[in-house]
Amino acid sequence: MTIDADLMFETALRERADAVEGMLRRILGERILPGEIARPEHLMAAMRHGALNGGKRLRPFLVLESAALFDADGEAAMRVATALECVHCYSLIHDDLPAMDDDDVRRGQPTVHKAFDEATAILAGDGLLTYAFDIVADEATPLPPERRAALVLALARAAGPGGMVGGQALDLDAERNKPDEAGIIRLQAMKTGALIRFACEAGAVIAGAPAGERERLAEFGSAVGLAFQLADDLLDLTADAGTMGKATNKDAAAGKATLVALHGADWARAQLAGLVTQAHALLEPFGERAAMLKAAASFVAARNS
Ligand code: IPE
Ligand code: IPE
Ligand code: MG
Ligand code: MG
Ligand code: MG
Repeated sequence: MTIDADLMFETALRERADAVEGMLRRILGERILPGEIARPEHLMAAMRHGALNGGKRLRPFLVLESAALFDADGEAAMRVATALECVHCYSLIHDDLPAMDDDDVRRGQPTVHKAFDEATAILAGDGLLTYAFDIVADEATPLPPERRAALVLALARAAGPGGMVGGQALDLDAERNKPDEAGIIRLQAMKTGALIRFACEAGAVIAGAPAGERERLAEFGSAVGLAFQLADDLLDLTADAGTMGKATNKDAAAGKATLVALHGADWARAQLAGLVTQAHALLEPFGERAAMLKAAASFVAARNS
C-alpha cells in the first residue's frame, strides 16, 4: 500500500472502530429489553470488560465495508457488525480460559477470567454469543424478516460446530495429534476463517446482492481469513507482547499446529503475499469501489499488532 492508502485505511478503521464501540457501550448497559427479566451487574461488567477493551475491530470493519460496496442499509450493517464483534469477543474470552490457551493478558488488559473469575468469564462469553443473535434478529435491524433470518443462519454456521467452535476443537486436538498441511489449513479456515468469511459475505446478504457476488465476497473473506491467522502465527513468533497486547512466543511451546511451525517464517511471508494478491484479484470486478476492502486485505498481512 502507498502511504496515502495506508493513512486512508487506518483513519477509516479507527472511525469504524469508534462507532462499533459506541454501539457496544449502548447495548451492554443495565437497561433491559422487552422479554428480559434483569441483567446481573457483575455479569454485564464482565461482558463489557471482554468487549470494550480495545481491539482492532477488523471484523466489523469488513462487514461495514462489504455492506458499503453494495450500498446496503447503514444501520443494518452496523448492527450486524456489532453482533459479529460480540461473537469474536466471546471467542477470545473462551480461548484465553485456563482449559484452553490459558492466557492472562488480552488487548493489554487482564483476561476476563483474571479480572473476574473463571465461571464469570464462561458466562460472559455465553452472554455475548447469545446476545449477538438477539441483535441481528431484533426488528431494530431494519431489514425484511427473511434477510434477518438469513444473517442469523449464516452467523450461526460460521460460529458453530462446523465453523469457529469446530476449529477451536481441532486446534486443541492438534496439540496432541499433529495434522498435515491440509489439516492445518482446514482447522484455521474454521477457527479464524469462518468469522472473517462471514464478515465479508454479510454485506452482500444485508443488501440482497446476487448469489454470484455474495460468493465472490465469501471467497475474498476466506483468503483474508487464512492470511489473518497466518499473520497471527507469525506475530506469535516475531512480535513482543507489549505491542500485541497479549502473550507471544507461546504457540511453539504449546505444540500448536501452525503453518509457521511446519514451514518456517520465510515460507509464511511468501504465502501471505500470495493470499493478498489472490484476495485483491477477487475484487477486481468491483473496481475502485473495493479500494477499502483491498486495503484491509493488505493490512491483515502487513499488520504488526
Ligand atoms: C485474535 O483476533 C484472534 C485470532 C483469530 C487470531 P484479533 O487480532 O482480531 O484480535 P483483536 O480483536 O484485535 O483484539
Ligand atoms: C484464536 O486463535 C482463534 C479464536 C477462535 C479465538 P489464537 O489462540 O491463535 O488467538 P490468540 O493468539 O490467542 O489471539
Ligand atoms: Mg487458541
Ligand atoms: Mg489463544
Ligand atoms: Mg495466536
